[in-house]
Amino acid sequence: MNTISEAQLRKIELLKLSGINEIFTQETEPFSKEDYLQKFETEYQDCANCKLAQTRNKLVWGGGNADADIVFIGEGPGQQEDLQGVPFVGNAGQLLTKMLTAIDLSREDVYITNIVKCRPPGNRNPQEDEIRACMPYLEFQLSIIQPKIICALGKVAGNVLLQCDDTLTKMRQKFFPFSSSKLMVTYHPSALLHNPDWKRPAWEDMKMLKREYAESR
Ligand code: URA
Repeated sequence: MNTISEAQLRKIELLKLSGINEIFTQETEPFSKEDYLQKFETEYQDCANCKLAQTRNKLVWGGGNADADIVFIGEGPGQQEDLQGVPFVGNAGQLLTKMLTAIDLSREDVYITNIVKCRPPGNRNPQEDEIRACMPYLEFQLSIIQPKIICALGKVAGNVLLQCDDTLTKMRQKFFPFSSSKLMVTYHPSALLHNPDWKRPAWEDMKMLKREYAESR
């Protein structure tokens, strides 16, 4: 079981100072990464830091393996995700599962989350204030999981994480240094459902991810 290192604890202390607090109680046993994520989800289950709280059904924190070396980051929950509280379970999620299978990974091998944890009404793009309000949660998740590779799904996630306004074409097919991880950007599975021609270049991205993953182990 992976536990939290001293360095991670220091980072968490910093995050606490920047607004995430009170998730650490008096327990003396070392926590697993999963424990930390669960504690954090429970602590913030009533989050109302932005207007998306008014229209959401369920907060969708993320799911998968807290000890994963790869984290996928989408844009925000859709209708099915909002109802079930689980990321990528609708049509786009089924395609994401297939993309993982194609590179010999399962959903249990990776962690999947989103830039914003509550559904933007009508599946619109998340707005700047919503992204800003939610970003400490993603930072916290990444500081706990410490993935080797982060895969941003779609232009919105890529732009937010890389703090740029580049096109998807410009961002894909390369790795960017990102904290202690490497970050790549590929097509959002919803975009692939609407534009089947993009499945071929998306496959190139998946192969690149697979190579990097194999080298990182
Ligand atoms: N699209 C996303 O970006 N995230 C989900 O969880 C589902 C669909």
